[in-house]
Amino acid sequence: MPVLVVGGAGYIGSHAAHTLKRKGHEPIIYDNLSTGHAALAEGFELVVGDITDSAKLASVLQRVDAVMHFAAHAYVGESVVDPRKYFHNNVLGGVALLHAVLDSKVRKFIFSSTCAVYGMPAKLPITEDTPRMPVNPYGATKLAFEHALEAYGAAYGLRYVSFRYFNAAGADESGKVGEMHSPETHLIPSAFEAIHGERPALEIFGEDYPTPDGTCVRDYIHVNDLAEAHVLGLEYLDCGSSTAMNLGTGRGNSVREVISTIERITGREVPKHMGPRRAGDPAELVADPSRAEKLLKWKATRSLEQIVSTAWDWATRQVPQPPH
Ligand code: UFG
Repeated sequence: MPVLVVGGAGYIGSHAAHTLKRKGHEPIIYDNLSTGHAALAEGFELVVGDITDSAKLASVLQRVDAVMHFAAHAYVGESVVDPRKYFHNNVLGGVALLHAVLDSKVRKFIFSSTCAVYGMPAKLPITEDTPRMPVNPYGATKLAFEHALEAYGAAYGLRYVSFRYFNAAGADESGKVGEMHSPETHLIPSAFEAIHGERPALEIFGEDYPTPDGTCVRDYIHVNDLAEAHVLGLEYLDCGSSTAMNLGTGRGNSVREVISTIERITGREVPKHMGPRRAGDPAELVADPSRAEKLLKWKATRSLEQIVSTAWDWATRQVPQPPH
């Protein structure tokens, strides 16, 4: 199926494009390259455009049967200090994209949502019926878009899946695509930067959480497990329904556990020091992924070790080599 991968030159979008191609689909990448990288779109048709450019979108939408939307800003901390940027791109821009889709023949839409829509849930693991009460502007913008999809689905027959990701991590096994954020804030690539001397040390954000070892617990899911769920999501839309689904493993790992896995897999010590809590970090976020497992016949299959080893392989390829 021809699929428009909006934000396909970014981290998760580029993995979705590769997985779509491997499964016999025909992805076209649409990206404004503001945070995406043309290098991550190599081997694909890349249309450089903004999600607010309705004329450009109209012409490319004629050529596809479905849209996957990954084009969003996604830093929780930045969204607190610059919410305008987040509401502008994730809500205004996102709704402009949605209107371009409604004005086309395309009725299948897959949205890259987040567990940040739940905020600080009272009960774990988190099911899709957990009240959506985001605690930061990033989560609020993703929830606003989910609301638009729900209303448009009911009114205009748009079929959609909102995939609520837990902690996406790892890289494609081919070594061709991986995480390339600037600045980098995520735990695993930040630890690699510390190993490579690109930052003095990894700061551990708090050790006084009510968790077994005092550090935060997250559900780390390999980006290709996410990508495979997206491809199955396209088939799910053929059944005529729309829904939201958590994408996680159902297993939590603490920051300390992730660091010791990194040290074991890489054989290198992570330079690190203890710091205070980061504002807005819940103690523990773990998915109940049973809805996606049931509806998509999908399961996250890659381990934390595979997440770390693929991410390490990618990160070491990005480090400039000294001249011989
Ligand atoms: N952490 C550190 N030091 C760092 C970076 C992270 O200790 O330098 C810790 C964080 O406190 C957190 C865990 O490692 O406990 C994971 O942090 P990340 O920044 O890698 O990921 P987040 O859990 O903050 O973010 C993810 C997604 C967001 C989403 C959020 C919802 O990337 O898109 O979960 O909580 F909004």
